[in-house]
Amino acid sequence: MYKQTMWSGDYTELRQQWLGLRTGYGLSDLSNFSALIFSMLPDLNWCGFYLWDEKDQMLRVGPFQGLPACVEIKSGQGVCGSAFQTKTTLVVPDVHQFPGHIACDFRSRSECVIPVFQNDICIGVFDLDSPDLDRFSKDDALGLESLLALL
Ligand code: SME
Repeated sequence: MYKQTMWSGDYTELRQQWLGLRTGYGLSDLSNFSALIFSMLPDLNWCGFYLWDEKDQMLRVGPFQGLPACVEIKSGQGVCGSAFQTKTTLVVPDVHQFPGHIACDFRSRSECVIPVFQNDICIGVFDLDSPDLDRFSKDDALGLESLLALL
């Protein structure tokens, strides 16, 4: 799989790229956002959206990059469900230490999950998985939050 490796660590640059890509069309933007992050950030094995299904009261997998993943996650379940329930970004340095972590890809060792808001309502989360322990820094979390605020 092609992976861009020239990541400068600069979220300002990524922000410019995202501003050039986004269209305002929901599904297209979520798809391209996942592809941009997956191709630009090193050491990811999965990234994508889990979107809240109001009718069935659960998160369902949305646009993503990586191996096929679990389809449904309850609010409060795993890292994604916990980030959604608490409406806070979760950075998990070692997923094996997170009670209730849902293992979709056995390679995942660390994870970062960011709630996604639309008009102040949390509509789901953006999930990033890495095969490396402690992959996600505070700067990653802040950088990703600022990018997702532009969706
Ligand atoms: N690990 C997540 C589940 C989603 S996958 O990583 C794609 C969790 O514990 O919520």
